[in-house]
Amino acid sequence: MKIGVFDSGFGGLTVLRALLRHIPGVDYAYLGDTARLPYGAKSRATVARYATSSARFLVEEEEAEFLVIACNTASALALDAIHEAVSVPVLGVVETGANAADASSTTRDVLVIATAATVESHAYTAACAARKLRAIEKACPLLVPLVEEGWTQHPVTEEVVRIYMGELMEQSRAANLNADTLVLACTHYPLLRATIERAVPREVRVIDSAEVTAQQVAVQLGSAGGSALCPQVEFFATDSVTKFRELGTQFLGQAIPAVRLVVLGG
Ligand code: DGL
Repeated sequence: MKIGVFDSGFGGLTVLRALLRHIPGVDYAYLGDTARLPYGAKSRATVARYATSSARFLVEEEEAEFLVIACNTASALALDAIHEAVSVPVLGVVETGANAADASSTTRDVLVIATAATVESHAYTAACAARKLRAIEKACPLLVPLVEEGWTQHPVTEEVVRIYMGELMEQSRAANLNADTLVLACTHYPLLRATIERAVPREVRVIDSAEVTAQQVAVQLGSAGGSALCPQVEFFATDSVTKFRELGTQFLGQAIPAVRLVVLGG
């Protein structure tokens, strides 16, 4: 059994990390579409084109039998297009993120931070509403480049996060929300989790969907999840494999031995 994990870049490695913990008995192929990142500032049509070619690579070239779309932007804007493009089961992180919010919130009011494209799609608001949760979404476009720069502990990042969270809490008050949960709806934000937690009121629980996603994949696979303890993990990137190895190690929490360059077009 091979699971394909797709993200626009390195961030989805936080999801792969959770998958390896929960489902160690299968093989993995991870594709980061680093040449075309960021997806979060692009239109639905462009994200769908990029995401479907990436999904096809994992299924047609790498023979993945199950796809996890770890990228929130691709999950929010292109999940239907991906379903149409490939014939294997596909799981996106918007539904799993909304499930995590559902499990966490007692006030039923939640906050969501994500890329501009994810927020504009209102996919999270819709997924939350389906679970009877009220949601406020906020785009935090500066956070992805700051993380890509490796500035996860930098004072500038601390200040940017403080400003964004201040605006979000203001938005929440203006809408009369009593939020107790904040969803990190972007692959890069878990690396800023401690900074984000410091910038929101203590009663707001910060969650990300990596764990819930891995748990849901495990449930969907059932016994197909296997029990071998030495999974083969292959890494693919559409741009610099050196940068992927260096930055990716931070996201995955372990060294990345080899990365293969793939060309998927513009
Ligand atoms: N992977 C994207 C997401 O989770 C963030 C990076 C990008 O904009 O491509 O939304």
